[in-house]
Amino acid sequence: MKLWKGRFSKEAAPETNDFNSSISFDSRMFKEDIEGSIAHATMLGRQGIIELAESEKIIAELKKIKQDIIDGTLTIDPDAEDIHTFIEGELTERIGQTGKRLHTARSRNDQVALDIRLTLKPEIDGLVSQLKDLVAMLASKAEEYYDTVMPGYTHLQRAQPVTFGHHLLAYCEMLLRDIDRLKDAKDRMDFCPLGSGALAGTTYPLDRELTASLLGFKGPTQNSLDGVSDRDFCAEIAFAVSLTMVHLSRFCEELVMWCSWEFKFIELDDAFSTGSSIMPQKKNPDLAELIRGKSGRVFGDLMALLTMMKGLPLAYNKDMQEDKEAVFDAVDTLKLCLTPLIPMVGTMTVLKKNMRKAAAGGFINATDCADYLVANKNVPFRDAYKITGELVALCIEKGLTLEELPLEEYQKICPEFDEGVFTAINLEKCVNDRTVLGGPAPKNVMAQAKRVQDLVKTL
Ligand code: ARG
Repeated sequence: MKLWKGRFSKEAAPETNDFNSSISFDSRMFKEDIEGSIAHATMLGRQGIIELAESEKIIAELKKIKQDIIDGTLTIDPDAEDIHTFIEGELTERIGQTGKRLHTARSRNDQVALDIRLTLKPEIDGLVSQLKDLVAMLASKAEEYYDTVMPGYTHLQRAQPVTFGHHLLAYCEMLLRDIDRLKDAKDRMDFCPLGSGALAGTTYPLDRELTASLLGFKGPTQNSLDGVSDRDFCAEIAFAVSLTMVHLSRFCEELVMWCSWEFKFIELDDAFSTGSSIMPQKKNPDLAELIRGKSGRVFGDLMALLTMMKGLPLAYNKDMQEDKEAVFDAVDTLKLCLTPLIPMVGTMTVLKKNMRKAAAGGFINATDCADYLVANKNVPFRDAYKITGELVALCIEKGLTLEELPLEEYQKICPEFDEGVFTAINLEKCVNDRTVLGGPAPKNVMAQAKRVQDLVKTL
């Protein structure tokens, strides 16, 4: 039976019920819905809006309902309209008239706005904790590979030498910002909408401060229309999660490349790889690909939320029921991706020799060769750049690296060159000298890895 049966002369059509119901995706908020109701009933009792004894009876039964659902002795009716209706109906069935008093000075509009917030807050904490684990793991790998020389790329062309530790620490920086964004979103949504009513507050003497504090919020929301119709927090979380997925997707793209035969910079552990049904030689990075792929659905969630909200007049509109699937999918997907990613990266083998070999090709010390002329021979940079370009062209023609090209050939292009150039273009030296703040020198990597590890503990 519907809540609104007094006004209607007919039952809703089955098609109406099926289409209108949100129980399949809002029943996950049953605990939060009950906690919200307990706080509301507590406040109603303390304010004398309902009898204290009735408030206590409601609270005691709500606790039982919660436990019964957890234990499985009470199943949520899949035909219920939504979780709010189901719990209120169950309460009334159990304690009769008193149950009917719970919804005094409340609407499902402020109730659902509360439930989503209560559900998302611990989800964010969970994501932050997983991200912290990932950052800590990457920082410890950075420490391990602090002096592992590898080519750095621009345009996916070998560019200048970096260290593998430095490369991993770049992801730490992105993920630290992601943590910050998630915490920030949580902070901004930490206000309790209960008491906003359907849209226009209520004439009952509510203590909204009390309800907010009972539920662990910083305080109540300040405008009833906004309280029931604000879903900024869903969009903000979906964006923070989307950007995190961008970072994971870029990282996974690199993992996929690195374990190809073309790179062979890493090897993923067998436990985190898959094979082929037909090609016996294959070892595939399916997990990394799937994380890269799942970024798409999360961006879809964000787009769905923004589009769903953009044309809605104040205050609540049923369109907003679509918020839950989108935002829950976003947080669930990120959680799902982080779970295997952390051990997959933790167990990968880093093939240092192959990184070093790749660094030896591709003339990634060409800038250092030009810098040598600038620093030691007072050649203007533009000239030094051109001279080095000619040297590279000569090397390509002869199939040599800059290290292998004889000094006479250097001198034919620029007589200023002497033996010192070979020290200047030594890859280890090129990396070791990049000690500028934020640079890839091994001693920087050590210091940064330590900094990140210490920082992550404070978050
Ligand atoms: N299931 C609804 C939702 O998720 C709950 C709020 C219903 N409010 C209403 N006025 N019909 O948005």
